[in-house]
Amino acid sequence: MKENTEISSARGLRIGDTTPDFEARSTIGPVKLSNFRKRWLILFSHPADFTPVCTTEFVELARQADEFEKRDCELMALSVDSLFSHFAWLRMIRDRFDIEVRFPIVEDPTLVIGRAFGMVAPQDSDSATVRTTFFIDPSGVIRAMTCYPANMGRSIPEMLRMLDALQAIDAQDALAPANWQPGEPLLKPPTQNLDEVFKAGDETAWFLRDTGKGKSK
Ligand code: BEZ
Repeated sequence: MKENTEISSARGLRIGDTTPDFEARSTIGPVKLSNFRKRWLILFSHPADFTPVCTTEFVELARQADEFEKRDCELMALSVDSLFSHFAWLRMIRDRFDIEVRFPIVEDPTLVIGRAFGMVAPQDSDSATVRTTFFIDPSGVIRAMTCYPANMGRSIPEMLRMLDALQAIDAQDALAPANWQPGEPLLKPPTQNLDEVFKAGDETAWFLRDTGKGKSK
């Protein structure tokens, strides 16, 4: 892998940060993160190839690949395992589960990427990355993150729901309430005008009101 000078100075990442760039080998050939801009990207780490929970995640992600594509979103996975381990695992998944994982899996043998993105604790001697997921918008900004432990798999419907929510709030300049599902109304940002606060129909209507678009449950 090329020396990633920009990335090595990063100290974990937060929502609102622009992702540092990196170049690495992957199962689809060399990848450069910045070449994935202009579309949404879900960049996620997994602890290790050939492990039970990770296998279920990759099978399910591959099965749902069209759903991510419909949302103009690419997937990119990363772990400390070598490229050849990734290849062998994908071959096993194809043969056993009859599904081809076609999104890139990056090798990060020195963990330079995993550490910079906060996928491993800096002081951790264990080389495995935890299940960190970054939702990155088309301008390269981290819009949401999740972190699951090694012994619990991610929910692929929840990943799709988060992507739907992020895209809907951008499109409508609105807010997604608890348990929001696609097709349901979003919330309007609260007014910043005192006259509107006093004029509002009831005591919550100035800050808790939906956009009127979509169907409530
Ligand atoms: C798993 O994917 O099953 C797994 C990976 C690392 C530690 C524990 C479980």
